Amino acid sequence: MSKKIFSGVQPSGNLHLGNYLGAIKNFVELQNEKNTECIYCIVDLHAITVKQDPQELKKNIRETLATFIASGLNSKKSIIFSQSSVAAHSELAWILSCVARIGWLNRMTQFKEKAGKDKEKASIGLYAYPVLMAADILLYDTTHVPVGEDQKQHLELCRDIAQRFNNEFRSPNFLKVPEPMIQKNFSRIMSLKDAKNKMSKSDPSDLSRINLTDDKDTIINKIKKAKTDTMPMPDEKEDLKNRPEVLNLLEIFSCLSGNSIEKSKKQFCGKNFSEFKEELSNLLVEKIEPISNEIKKLLDDKKNLDNILLEGSQKANEYGEKKIIEMKKIIGF
Ligand code: AMP
Ligand code: TRP
Repeated sequence: MSKKIFSGVQPSGNLHLGNYLGAIKNFVELQNEKNTECIYCIVDLHAITVKQDPQELKKNIRETLATFIASGLNSKKSIIFSQSSVAAHSELAWILSCVARIGWLNRMTQFKEKAGKDKEKASIGLYAYPVLMAADILLYDTTHVPVGEDQKQHLELCRDIAQRFNNEFRSPNFLKVPEPMIQKNFSRIMSLKDAKNKMSKSDPSDLSRINLTDDKDTIINKIKKAKTDTMPMPDEKEDLKNRPEVLNLLEIFSCLSGNSIEKSKKQFCGKNFSEFKEELSNLLVEKIEPISNEIKKLLDDKKNLDNILLEGSQKANEYGEKKIIEMKKIIGF
């Protein structure tokens, strides 16, 4: 059976190693699989659920696209576009917000985290965020959605919404119920400074993350300064539950080298941390520096980037409009 992949990334600037290993690297692998159609969306409508500076948003949309392309996504193989350029996303989101229940949305933990203490002051968009995400996915008859662990709850909601629509309008299978594809090797890449927190663009310390735009010296310096502990490198069997910083660095190494954690532990057991860090830096420079250089090159030609988005939006609009026309018939419009 052929697969249809959809995923979205917010254009919030400063994409980092967590985004790369948790999402983009996967996108590229899926793009190169047989019988698989991939749609990757820069979700700018999701971005405005919190305040944005217009100039900055525009810059971040292009930067996200440049990062996609520099990481190996190919606009001839995958559909790559910005969410706001396909009106059907917003239209479907409204219809689905009449299907989703308030009780379902009240359970979403991401809203609770993002809204903070004063929920009354959060935008309605931030609350309805997962409904728009469901619209993104359901518009394209998506079969699989590659996302990080943190998006699992939103995907379950998406499945519930699809099933409820199909039942309510007696149109079995009209909205395809998608399967999540959660990264298996690790749940998330953590901060280099404190492995209790995930690597994130909102961390005030730049030393906490490897940005995909970092150059060689910056990468080497960040790994040198990355937190470890005072014990020796672990052996093959050691459980690293209580050594989260070491586990995180080993996970990064394993993901980039394509080896298992066990194999990486074996490779470095009995060696100094400095030796491990040097190898890790080398590997990071080897993988990230070409991406960083390519991003800079791509950002010099804004017209080319805008054309890629335009081309992608034309293809996405074709799908989107077709689905909305069918849906309107079912609803009775
Ligand atoms: P965001 O930038 O939060 O919109 O995330 C974009 C994609 O990157 C999502 O699929 C996230 O799950 C993934 N992601 C973000 N941060 C991390 C991290 N620290 N580790 C692994 N995946 C991440
Ligand atoms: N909410 C996702 C995130 O923060 C981004 C997103 C929006 C998405 N729409 C999507 C992911 C559809 C997968 C499918 O990471």
